[in-house]
Amino acid sequence: MTMIRRLDAAEAEARLAELAAVLRDAVEHGASVNFMAGLTAEDAAGFWRGQLPGLAAGEKHLLVAEAGGRIVGTVMLMFAPQPNAPHRAEVGKMLVHSSQRRQGLGRRLLGAAETAARAAGRSLLMLDTESGSAGDHLYRACGWTAFGQVPGHSHKPDGPLAETTFFYKVLDQG
Ligand SMILES: CC(C)(COP(=O)(O)OP(=O)(O)OC[C@H]1O[C@@H](n2cnc3c(N)ncnc32)[C@H](O)[C@@H]1OP(=O)(O)O)[C@@H](O)C(=O)NCCC(=O)NCCS
Repeated sequence: MTMIRRLDAAEAEARLAELAAVLRDAVEHGASVNFMAGLTAEDAAGFWRGQLPGLAAGEKHLLVAEAGGRIVGTVMLMFAPQPNAPHRAEVGKMLVHSSQRRQGLGRRLLGAAETAARAAGRSLLMLDTESGSAGDHLYRACGWTAFGQVPGHSHKPDGPLAETTFFYKVLDQG
């Protein structure tokens, strides 16, 4: 049974190695998630360590999927800090371990992030992902709207530049 739940900053700090393993697995399998191939365990843990102050301050939420007590998926919700955007948040680090994909976990994590956004009073979510990637398919399947493509936006982990698609979703508050 896989559970989805929020990790606070203290728990995230205690589980940096597991979070790092999920991020490294995604990069090793070619996902365009801000890092290049060869991401070390130390650098991956460093990324998550860098999120701890924001988690502690409530500027971000980290949701994880746990199977057998191990973290097998992540998603982050980052609340827009701007005074004119108290209704907006960004979704990031939507990752499911390669051994656990196509079983509905991505959909469940994304749904949990949307529920957490609603509970926090955020009604407009935004994100971007490599065009044509698994993420691109997931967001379309979950009712997100693609509103633009930028050619050559980011390097794929193995080098070449790839197009990015930008998405948004307006959450009903019901
Ligand atoms: C994107 C990702 C999180 C999807 O996780 P997942 O658990 O496999 O997704 P789900 O099983 O919930 O898929 C839900 C739906 O999304 C779509 N989908 C997901 N992965 C897909 C793929 N590789 N190809 C086509 N459609 C896909 C399908 O419609 C799927 O429904 P179906 O399985 O009934 O056909 C996962 O592939 C991943 O971690 N990829 C690497 C990291 C990444 O690219 N993250 C997004 C960057 S922002």
